[in-house]
Amino acid sequence: MKAIRFHEYGDPGALRYEDAERPEPAEGEVLVEVAATSFNPVDAAIRAGYLQQIFPVSLPHIPGIDVAGTVAALGAGVTRWSVGEKVIGFLPMVPDGAAAEFVTVASEILAPAPTTTPLTHAAALPAAAQTAWQALMEHADLRAGQRVLINGAGGGVGGFAVQLAKRAGAFVIATAAPRSAGTVRAQGADQIIDYTSAGPADALTEPVEAVLNLAMVTESEMAALTGLVRDGGVVVTTATPAVGDADRGVRAVGMQLRTDAGQLEKLAKMVDAGELSIDVSASYPLSAAESVHELSAAGRIRGKVLLIPAR
Ligand SMILES: NC(=O)c1ccc[n+]([C@@H]2O[C@H](COP(=O)([O-])OP(=O)(O)OC[C@H]3O[C@@H](n4cnc5c(N)ncnc54)[C@H](OP(=O)(O)O)[C@@H]3O)[C@@H](O)[C@H]2O)c1
Repeated sequence: MKAIRFHEYGDPGALRYEDAERPEPAEGEVLVEVAATSFNPVDAAIRAGYLQQIFPVSLPHIPGIDVAGTVAALGAGVTRWSVGEKVIGFLPMVPDGAAAEFVTVASEILAPAPTTTPLTHAAALPAAAQTAWQALMEHADLRAGQRVLINGAGGGVGGFAVQLAKRAGAFVIATAAPRSAGTVRAQGADQIIDYTSAGPADALTEPVEAVLNLAMVTESEMAALTGLVRDGGVVVTTATPAVGDADRGVRAVGMQLRTDAGQLEKLAKMVDAGELSIDVSASYPLSAAESVHELSAAGRIRGKVLLIPAR
């Protein structure tokens, strides 16, 4: 099969589009024919070798932690899925991923794909939407009527976070560059702050119950974000570490996305119910993975980007 692999850590040029052995599903695993994977910033960090201690991948490694595809074969003992079913999944970081024509996946981490979107688009859902859900609903415990500031709303996670926060009945304040402002507004943001011209602290007139930070900002910018949280509130971050404020009862959570197939299934059902939309900003052939990583390094990726194997 064709796959993207890197044989050594390095810059985007380390990615090769080449032949790799098609994996066989072991006991409890499913072989998925990949319709698409989507790019996530962690793909670039793993490729560059920054996360070797946390995610010790074996080289050569196939990246790609999101998958949407079709069940192609079942390993021994798998009864939950049938060949031909459309599935999605957030894959573990260390084994080979979905930037390939086929990937093997533990059957219990897969969920049925949404039926109302192209299967390829469903690859944008797993990691990003689950991050948004876990951040807002589990860590921030966001409630109707609360004010939430989403910093970095223009990105892949942000697009889902804005929608989910709005759906929860919150007043949603989003930071976004002009290139993302229209999308973020359409996703339901009540107030948009152009972070390229003003910091959130300058634009906000009253505090928020929760901050969700999705951007790599400086420590002092992160401290300023914490300062915008009302006493007893929370700052959740997926990027720059946050420090809480014990005197004011402000909690800080550095979240780590966890696999939850049941939750992913609920998110897919929300897509089918018209409660959550999947916005894909660009699709590339799998062979263009190096270019996508280069665009990311140059800050030129917006929202979710798909990589699609040739058929
Ligand atoms: N810990 C975890 O479990 C976990 C899980 C998922 C993601 N993450 C991390 O969370 C971060 C967000 O993920 P993602 O997939 O959404 O990344 P992404 O698609 O690259 O989005 C980040 C967005 O932030 C915006 N941005 C950049 N600099 C900013 C700044 N100074 N202030 C405000 N906004 C800024 C940009 O949008 P515009 O310029 O277009 O507005 C950019 O698209 C990444 O660092 C990722 O690695 C962590």
